Amino acid sequence: MEYTVKSGNPEKQRSACVVVGVFENRRLSQSAQQLDQACDGQLTQLVRRGDMDGRKGQSLMLHRVPGLVCDRVLLVGLGRERGCDERAYIKAVETMAGALQDSGAGDATCYLTEIGIRAWDVFWRIRAAARTLETFFYRFDRLKTAPSEQPRINLRRVTFSVPSRRELSGGEQAASEGAAIGNGMNVARELGNLPGNYCTPRHLGEQALELANGHPRMEAELLDEAAMDELGMGALLAVSRGSREEARLIVMRYRGADDDSAPYTLVGKGVTFDTGGISLKPAAAMDEMKFDMCGAASVFGTLSAVADLELPVNVVGIVAAVENMPDGRAYKPGDVVTTMSGQTVEVLNTDAEGRLALCDALTYAERFRPAAVVDMATLTGAAIVALGHHTHGLMGNNGGLVNELLAAGRAATDRAWELPLWDEYQEQLKSTVADMANIGGPPAGTITAGCFLSRYTKKYRWAHLDIAGTAWKSGEHKGATGRPVPLLTQWLLDRTAR
Ligand code: BES
Ligand code: MN
Ligand code: ZN
Repeated sequence: MEYTVKSGNPEKQRSACVVVGVFENRRLSQSAQQLDQACDGQLTQLVRRGDMDGRKGQSLMLHRVPGLVCDRVLLVGLGRERGCDERAYIKAVETMAGALQDSGAGDATCYLTEIGIRAWDVFWRIRAAARTLETFFYRFDRLKTAPSEQPRINLRRVTFSVPSRRELSGGEQAASEGAAIGNGMNVARELGNLPGNYCTPRHLGEQALELANGHPRMEAELLDEAAMDELGMGALLAVSRGSREEARLIVMRYRGADDDSAPYTLVGKGVTFDTGGISLKPAAAMDEMKFDMCGAASVFGTLSAVADLELPVNVVGIVAAVENMPDGRAYKPGDVVTTMSGQTVEVLNTDAEGRLALCDALTYAERFRPAAVVDMATLTGAAIVALGHHTHGLMGNNGGLVNELLAAGRAATDRAWELPLWDEYQEQLKSTVADMANIGGPPAGTITAGCFLSRYTKKYRWAHLDIAGTAWKSGEHKGATGRPVPLLTQWLLDRTAR
């Protein structure tokens, strides 16, 4: 999709479709009123007749309204004016996208960007709209042999309205950011949705090389199991032992700033399928464990967005790509493994594999002398119990970094919520035979997983996002969400704005 920005009156737009909002109780938005005046009050009459009362999710497409120069007018319901928050706004943009998809319009001029939402400015509204549109039309259909039932989309270009010429260049930047974030989310979704028999550690490695190939400032390096063995990554390799697929440690580097500028480092859990290993998972919904590499997918998606925007920062992306399988050679409960850090771990449950793969990747991250490290992982079912599917679980060893991420999540409508990483919880990881156990028992499973990782991240500012509840949806709309690409990209955007 192409996005442009324009300032001008709605009644003057020779567009295939002019999109304006209507609030609940039939209150026309400002640009709807302007259109209304230009067509002798036809919009007012229409809402009076009851065809459109402004409820959320409602829309009405009007064709060739006498007095107007555009081909179509799309009225979009916004709900109550005072309650118009981020969610209502994004819902309105989705409603617009759905209506445009069902129409023949090849371009649209969108005035929803005039709607006030809390403290967010017009650039925020454009960024959010571009991102929403970019993700709205995504479908995972590459494994279907029949062409999808979905209609062909005519829409090629969306133009966002800004109040004056002064906002044009900022608006264009915001549209590019939104499009890059949306595209990065789709990159993450595509990898997440790809089944375990396609999306192997080797496949993720190949995708990294491909991503790097497409961007002059990006490079990728793959470490195979022999290389990881050299480095002493006994935890990651233990997880991989039961699998016929060879593990990969994937390192991607984006160079947007001077070499001496410390890189922001993203580390992703890339368990391409998690059976639980010898501590086998129950059969119900086990297919969803193909999504256990969504942390890794968010590294790809974020790097893609950062490279598209040519952000002036250095970013390192590290992915621990491994499959967790039961087998005659698989690691077993009771085994003790030695991590790259030198610390030993008693494996009490082979299903707590994510932290084992991550701990070695986190130790590896030290060599980049990072400005900060953020890891993303579908780490614990307990995160879903604690927080549901709306917010990521966030923990870290640095209050400033945690606050940066919380703020980025709010700005990107991709929110995180902090959980306490207190010393009290560390005691649950005690082992009788090794330095620590890999599980901390039933209480606060998300936090004890964070505690485990904290023992490998003492040398830098670090935060951990447990995305088990947020990275994919189950049920009818089963699929990867592309989260937390918006949060991460926003965080990096914020780091360039200082
Ligand atoms: N990938 C899972 C976490 C998960 C489970 C995410 C269900 C989303 C839905 C992780 O590897 C795992 O199995 N964690 C265990 C940890 C436990 C053994 C301490 C869990 O959550 O049950
Ligand atoms: Mn597991
Ligand atoms: Zn897992």
